[in-house]
Amino acid sequence: MAILLPGGAGYIGSHTAIELLNAGKKIIIIDNFSNSKPEIIEKIKQITGKNLKFYELDYLNKDGLEKVFEENKIDAVINFAGYKAVGESVQEPLKYYHNNVAGAVTLLETMAKYNVKNFVFSSSATVYGNPEIIPITEECKTGGTTNPYGTTKLFIEQILQDLYKSDNSWNICILRYFNPVGAHESGLIGEEPNGVPNNLMPYIVRVAKGELKELSVFGNDYNTQDGTGVRDYIHVVDLAKGHVNAIQKLEKEKSGIYIYNLGTGKGYSVLDMVKAFEKATGRKVPYKIAPRRAGDIPTCYADPKKAKQELNWQATKTLEDMCMDSWNYINQN
Ligand code: UFG
Repeated sequence: MAILLPGGAGYIGSHTAIELLNAGKKIIIIDNFSNSKPEIIEKIKQITGKNLKFYELDYLNKDGLEKVFEENKIDAVINFAGYKAVGESVQEPLKYYHNNVAGAVTLLETMAKYNVKNFVFSSSATVYGNPEIIPITEECKTGGTTNPYGTTKLFIEQILQDLYKSDNSWNICILRYFNPVGAHESGLIGEEPNGVPNNLMPYIVRVAKGELKELSVFGNDYNTQDGTGVRDYIHVVDLAKGHVNAIQKLEKEKSGIYIYNLGTGKGYSVLDMVKAFEKATGRKVPYKIAPRRAGDIPTCYADPKKAKQELNWQATKTLEDMCMDSWNYINQN
């Protein structure tokens, strides 16, 4: 029995593929390389010393997807095939609703046809909008997303709730990621944003490397310890391991719908991140204070207790690991 990973060559998908292979699971990746490269598949094999099956395929291609289900014994699906650039989603909302929402529906229809009902979904803390309480528990109200990317995550969560209500033999785990950063310690895989990065860590790394002049800190007048935005940064390898625990949970439960925050429970400001990066790498990160970025919230960090209790998972890597591994990756590539 194998686990199918649509989008398994992407940033979080590839790190999860490694952890699943290391845990002795058989995996099949499908990816259309819209935001990744074929060599990632080889690197996953190189890092783990294990083999995997790969199809170059868009998960919206229903006939192609059905062929994958015909040819393999698939037990569970972890869906990583989503677009994730917040700014682009504002410019091109239909592209996001089509790929993320229609893609997820196509995948779920195909799963239902082949009676595969174990599903792990990559959701995001963005579904909490501007959170009511900090730290954020899974019971906090969702909604009030500020961009189409976030709304696709919210819609897919609702689709999964409706699906489970209609047929409670489904076995679904929704993982709400906080802010993934870092890279595999081998330096072979990591995050490669196209063009100028939007997210903080990839931007810091490029400033430290001298490829970008300085970091713009978006606002220093928030109600936080130093006025800059606070987030829950989580090492991508910790996040990847959370998926192995989610699969184990589904193996144990047989049916149900479960939701977990995957975060560290610690909030760091933008300036904390700059300082931590400089300390870990010995490189300077020049910055200037700039206006607030539209759609940003002041503070967002997880209460990760539920994942610890029910998934037996918690993040173990430090902020120093996150900075060092992000830096190593960019220097090796
Ligand atoms: N920031 C800067 N300068 C930059 C980039 C970011 O000051 O050049 C600040 C932001 O204002 C924010 C913090 O750094 O306070 C983190 O910003 P990111 O863009 O790295 O991350 P976000 O929290 O905005 O969004 C991320 C993911 C989303 C996801 C969300 C979940 O990009 O996909 O976390 O909360 F939905």
